[in-house]
Amino acid sequence: MTKPGKGILAMDESNATCGTRLEGVGVENTEENRRRYRELLISTKGMGEYVGGAILFEETLYQSCKDGTSFVDALRKEGMYPGIKVDKGLRPLANSNGESWCQGLDGLAERAAEYYKQGARFCKWRSVVSIPAGPSKIAVTDCAYGLARYAAICQNAGLVPIVEPEILLDGDHDIDRNFEVASMVWAETFKYLADNNVKFDRMLLKPSMVAPGADCTKKSNAKEVAAYTLKMLNSRVPPETAGIMFLSGGLSELDSTMYLNAMNQQPNPWHVSFSYARALQNSVIKTWAGDDSRTAEAQEILLRRARENSEAQRGVFDV
Ligand code: 13P
Repeated sequence: MTKPGKGILAMDESNATCGTRLEGVGVENTEENRRRYRELLISTKGMGEYVGGAILFEETLYQSCKDGTSFVDALRKEGMYPGIKVDKGLRPLANSNGESWCQGLDGLAERAAEYYKQGARFCKWRSVVSIPAGPSKIAVTDCAYGLARYAAICQNAGLVPIVEPEILLDGDHDIDRNFEVASMVWAETFKYLADNNVKFDRMLLKPSMVAPGADCTKKSNAKEVAAYTLKMLNSRVPPETAGIMFLSGGLSELDSTMYLNAMNQQPNPWHVSFSYARALQNSVIKTWAGDDSRTAEAQEILLRRARENSEAQRGVFDV
């Protein structure tokens, strides 16, 4: 996953989120439709050249292709590691500014051992921080502490943890405010990762890019987003961290690729790459829309998006 030109395909939407995406293109949210859509993604030939791993939702880890090949084997055959989302989702955080916390630590060691047996080799835990909500001290601390406990537990189970404190794009804040919050969140996250003896060279980070809020009137170009994001990472992230795999967070397909490309045109000590869901899948699901006669066309789009982001990982993407 951290070889030159490689990134991650995030396809670990919960049943509810996957349902929203399916219903958005007129497809009913059933287990079989989720399986059909995920088979389309997993069986795209040639993905292994650009993508080293795919993050799955628990249901998907146990599903198979129509011909009986398990998704885990199909991924391995294409040269991709199966990963698993292990958090149990967000819940309201009492006494905060209407913020949330991420649950899932109870029984995590046992679940991680099961997932490893089933073939997973890496995992993800996503907490969120909202800038318009403050963020409150308690929300940031809870986010960082939960991520660190999760990472420690999963490293002990042999899984490579992806540490993802997503700073939501929602809001009208400017890029400087995002920089300030991201710096605070990553400082807190690394404090707790260190306290929990998490091995930095055996984990991956999944940050949001440092960009203006979605409703900010002052837009930034790719060069500016790259400069702010690298400045933040340089001040907070130890060089031995195995990889930095960005989320797309609602950025457009083109912006997420251009921003990544701009970062990789600057010197940095890490493998700076992608772990996109929406920025890889948006056009794919719209093209398929439940119609299997359009599978080949949808897969061609997925492969193109993977190739473009692979080029961006190497800093050689050209629109
Ligand atoms: P997006 O790329 O759509 O933000 O999703 C990445 C992800 O895995 C969020 O947890």
